[in-house]
Amino acid sequence: MKVFFLIFFLNTIMMGADGYSIYQKHCSHCHVEMMKKTEVLKQLHTLKAPPMIEVSNRLKENIIIADEDEDVKRRVTIAFIKDYIENPSVQYSMCHPMAIEKFGIMPSLKGKLHEDERQAVAEWIIDRYKNIKF
Ligand code: HEC
Repeated sequence: MKVFFLIFFLNTIMMGADGYSIYQKHCSHCHVEMMKKTEVLKQLHTLKAPPMIEVSNRLKENIIIADEDEDVKRRVTIAFIKDYIENPSVQYSMCHPMAIEKFGIMPSLKGKLHEDERQAVAEWIIDRYKNIKF
């Protein structure tokens, strides 16, 4: 048992923050992980925010890099998400206007996540839905 915890502990230190756990802890009570587009309309009354698959897809569609450099796009998207967690605003939101009207603007989570946790959750949002269309 001790060995197990030691390995677990070392693993956590070496891997840094785990994006999925951070999502579960700080985001999942508002952003559902997975939902089909057709389900969203049916379940709208139960939702507090757009599902994370929708958020991920919208960012990927809206953030366009002129020379289509995937690395640059990834960095810009991560920077956007990290900033949005602390400074959500109607000015920067890429959400559908109807979604904003329905849900309102996300409350700021400033001070709740460390830099490396915001980095990890941002990477998770991009990677979790790789090649999964909303
Ligand atoms: C209290 C509910 C709530 C929590 C908790 C929450 N969000 Fe949101 N989030 C929203 C709502 C509502 C919107 C849609 C309106 C908007 O864009 O601000 C949103 C939108 C977003 C967007 C999309 C912005 C855009 O321009 O398309 C991102 C990215 C996002 N959230 C990330 C996160 C992450 C990451 C977490 C957890 C660390 C999180 N949210 C936690 C409610 C929440």
